Amino acid sequence: MRIAVTGAAGQIAYSLLFRLAHGDFLGPDQPIALHLLDLPASEGALQGVKMELDDSVFPLLKEVVLGSRAEEVFGGVHYAFLVGAKPRGPGMERKDLLADNGKIFVEQGKALNTCASKDVRVLVVGNPCNTNCLIALHHAPNLSPHQFHAMTRLDQNRAVFQLAQKARVDVADVSHVAIWGNHSSTQVPDFVHAKIHSREALEAISDHRWLESEFVSLIQKRGAQVIAARGKSSAASAANAAIDAMRSLVVPTPHGQWFSSGVYSANNPYGIDEDLVFSFPCSSQGRGDYAIVGGLEMNSFLKEKIDLTQKELIEERDLVRGLLR
Ligand code: NAD
Ligand code: LMR
Repeated sequence: MRIAVTGAAGQIAYSLLFRLAHGDFLGPDQPIALHLLDLPASEGALQGVKMELDDSVFPLLKEVVLGSRAEEVFGGVHYAFLVGAKPRGPGMERKDLLADNGKIFVEQGKALNTCASKDVRVLVVGNPCNTNCLIALHHAPNLSPHQFHAMTRLDQNRAVFQLAQKARVDVADVSHVAIWGNHSSTQVPDFVHAKIHSREALEAISDHRWLESEFVSLIQKRGAQVIAARGKSSAASAANAAIDAMRSLVVPTPHGQWFSSGVYSANNPYGIDEDLVFSFPCSSQGRGDYAIVGGLEMNSFLKEKIDLTQKELIEERDLVRGLLR
């Protein structure tokens, strides 16, 4: 299996590549080739990363391809982690990156369209990931928009941790956490449908004020909190979430459960605008496919918040009109 990673000389990739080579994504029996893309200015650093991959003697890693031209690096890839993009600094919103990062995804969408395997699965991590993903899929008319995802899995993981901590249970006891909308400070971490030990989170956690205000705001602002603490954006947890996100597409979702992913909104069952990349609860049969989980009832709290995140995504789309096909 050929796996592309862009931004391969950057900090997320420095964690992601070694996890991929170890087999954490496709398992201990699947040999892989890594196709690594970064800018020409990072060529030296990329060579260094390859040296370290070589020196780790991963039995599953059969080939490492390096380059700075997407059309070459994406040749025949089955999975693409699109990480390469500028990160935000303190005080910025992720959408402030659109002017710089949006155009990267025009070029990479086109390259995937012509060079990648026809059944490639793409995860956009570079921010603002929903709208970057929308740009990429618009430029890949030979692929289905359903082959593209934007990463909201880190938000889901963050929400699971906070709920587990509040309820004083193990993280494994928290399930059915959905993230709706944009990977931004308007995202909606859904505690209404979340479960703790198979009970509703609203039953297990009696402090509903905490759920509605602190919890939601904590998840919305967690990325900024990490930046304030580290001086750099999240990296190892982002790499971990990227593996979780792609793995959810190749491992069947347990019956009745879901995972969150930013996916193309055409024909969605919740009345969201049909040309956005919007995070929904999804399930997969494990063959790279997914379906949006329908039928979840929305209370007025969720409806109002989902409306705001949808509005923000429409505004982002308006900002990049010139980059859409
Ligand atoms: P970084 O600056 O450490 O690395 C980015 C790398 O991308 C650099 O090596 C840079 O040279 C490369 N790059 C830039 N433009 C490129 C292009 N056109 N083609 C290929 N490579 C290119 O940044 P990082 O910390 O690894 O973060 C990468 C992106 O991921 C940022 O946009 C960040 O905001 C985003 N991010 C998203 C999530 C999420 O949950 N969706 C989480 C964390 C970070
Ligand atoms: C995150 O959520 O940690 C990333 O999107 C980085 C950021 O800008 O917050």
